[in-house]
Amino acid sequence: MSDPQEIKLEVRNRYAGIARNQSSGCAPSAADCGGDKLVELQMVDYSELRQQGVPEADLGLGCGTPTVWAQIQEGETVLDLGCGAGIDMFLSARAVGATGRVIGVDLTPEMLALAQRNASRGGFTNVRFMRGDLEHLALAAASVDVVLSNCVINLVPDKAVVYKQIHRLLRPGGRFAISDMVTYGEVPATVRQDMALWSGCIAGAMERETYMDMIREIGFGSVRVVAESQHDAADYLPLDESGFGIASVTVVGEKTA
Ligand SMILES: C[S@@+](CC[C@H](N)C(=O)[O-])C[C@H]1O[C@@H](n2cnc3c(N)ncnc32)[C@H](O)[C@@H]1O
Repeated sequence: MSDPQEIKLEVRNRYAGIARNQSSGCAPSAADCGGDKLVELQMVDYSELRQQGVPEADLGLGCGTPTVWAQIQEGETVLDLGCGAGIDMFLSARAVGATGRVIGVDLTPEMLALAQRNASRGGFTNVRFMRGDLEHLALAAASVDVVLSNCVINLVPDKAVVYKQIHRLLRPGGRFAISDMVTYGEVPATVRQDMALWSGCIAGAMERETYMDMIREIGFGSVRVVAESQHDAADYLPLDESGFGIASVTVVGEKTA
């Protein structure tokens, strides 16, 4: 794997650029994780959901609809890891109501600034934002009911550390609903080392079964894939033939007491 700091810099630069373009009124060109046409994954239909949140907060960067699977209740505390412009936060904020709260964490200051503007636009008072890296989350243990994340963990170099953090932060009985990219088959080393494909949510994605085993080994219960969309990589990448696939999965699980 490439240098983790180099990966984070590449990722931050890419999403800062997407946030800046959005701020200037120039929307990203495609509904995909990376926000450009490098990998065009039309996997998520947010058209109905976005009407319940703040439509401007949906930059088409997700790869699933985790809020649909999280069964968020009034009064709960929800944590959105890699919140981007805030779409899943605002959907959650409506669900938890005035007695609950939603915390969004993101690595990219420009994305957080955009999310904050969107929160003001939507009049949300039960949301708060933190700049942070998912490998080092400065939040209290057992303080969260629900963890969400949408197309982010594949971008983080050490995914096991992220899931360990999620386990630490959830209250006993708490749950997660996470949409993410995974691969199946043998991914060529040239793809794995391509920085643009890292920040585009392909090169950093783990092999599907290895990913699921990792989550279970950390100690979560009832871990399962609730939604999945598989694609041949050659449909999205400039390859004659690929021999490997990419998939968006939404995974749920719980911290058993
Ligand atoms: C593909 S976008 C998804 C944004 C949002 N979840 C959505 O569905 O619109 C990935 C987001 O994750 C953030 N991110 C990437 N790596 C991160 C890390 N190590 N820690 C925190 N946030 C990170 C990026 O800044 C970006 O806003």
